[in-house]
Amino acid sequence: MKSYKNPESTHWHVLGAGAIGCLWASHLSRAGKEVTLLLRTKPATAKREKYHPILLEQNGGISSFIVQIQLCSDKNPPIHNLIVCTKSFDALAAIHSIEHRLAPNARIVLLLNGMGVQQECIKRYPGRAVICGSTSDGAYRRDTFHVIQAGKGQTFFGVLNRTAISEPDNLHTNFMKSLNGIELNVHWSSDMLEHLWRKLAINCAINPLTAINRCRNGELLNDTRLVSLMQDICSEIEMILGALKLPYAKPSLFNQVTQDITVTAQNYSSMYQDLNNARPTEIDQITGFICRQAKALGIPVPTNEMLYRKIKNSIEFRAGQR
Ligand code: PAF
Repeated sequence: MKSYKNPESTHWHVLGAGAIGCLWASHLSRAGKEVTLLLRTKPATAKREKYHPILLEQNGGISSFIVQIQLCSDKNPPIHNLIVCTKSFDALAAIHSIEHRLAPNARIVLLLNGMGVQQECIKRYPGRAVICGSTSDGAYRRDTFHVIQAGKGQTFFGVLNRTAISEPDNLHTNFMKSLNGIELNVHWSSDMLEHLWRKLAINCAINPLTAINRCRNGELLNDTRLVSLMQDICSEIEMILGALKLPYAKPSLFNQVTQDITVTAQNYSSMYQDLNNARPTEIDQITGFICRQAKALGIPVPTNEMLYRKIKNSIEFRAGQR
């Protein structure tokens, strides 16, 4: 069992320069932290640069934050605080690419969609503090290093392996201290698994349906056929939760989904945007995770399976068109 001392420095390394990565990098910088954005390759315009501005647009205003930029393959300095904001299917390979720089007491914070990668990361890095996060912040990229904060949500952090951590309360206190001053709604959760499951249900209900029907989140509630599909998706997930004896189905998952849709009604889901821009989607870490769990438990999940196949088929169809 390892004890987690607070890594001295509040230098944050952000892995992933998508919307959530840029949102966090700019907010950490605004809160006075030293921030380095870790990139696979530097943009052509900044090949030799050590610093780069990130533009953050919110409430009609625009602010610029200068952060350091580095390649994942760089040798130094050691990383004490890592926040991983990549697509979930890229996360493990991205962490592996900077593994040589992780300090022995480094915190690895995963701010990812979907499920499965978090558990895999804990298995791969058994001696490290792996903190999982789940966010309802709405953000999208206008351009490289230019993020729009569309809605201020809530972000929960916590650990999934509390019993394997010798001083979990210290980890919690030190981690929240390291975010002092940040203008995002951040909370520590004593039951992070519940947040991950609830967010997973929201993603299973909203993402494939908005991607297939090419609509904004809010439009899902205007179509009775889609509402009934979302109810089926949630009931199937509730059956899995029941079989796993996880008491997360109350209040009902469908209630939670409708609340999220109401708050994000004007947004296009991440899967809609990925499919629309012919980028890989997170379907394997979202609906795919549910289908794999269901298979292992012998529980039928026909609606989730149908949507999984539809998204997979549209990815293949688009790849064939290129
Ligand atoms: O993936 C997204 O776009 C968002 O997580 C969601 C759940 C669809 C809206 O909050």
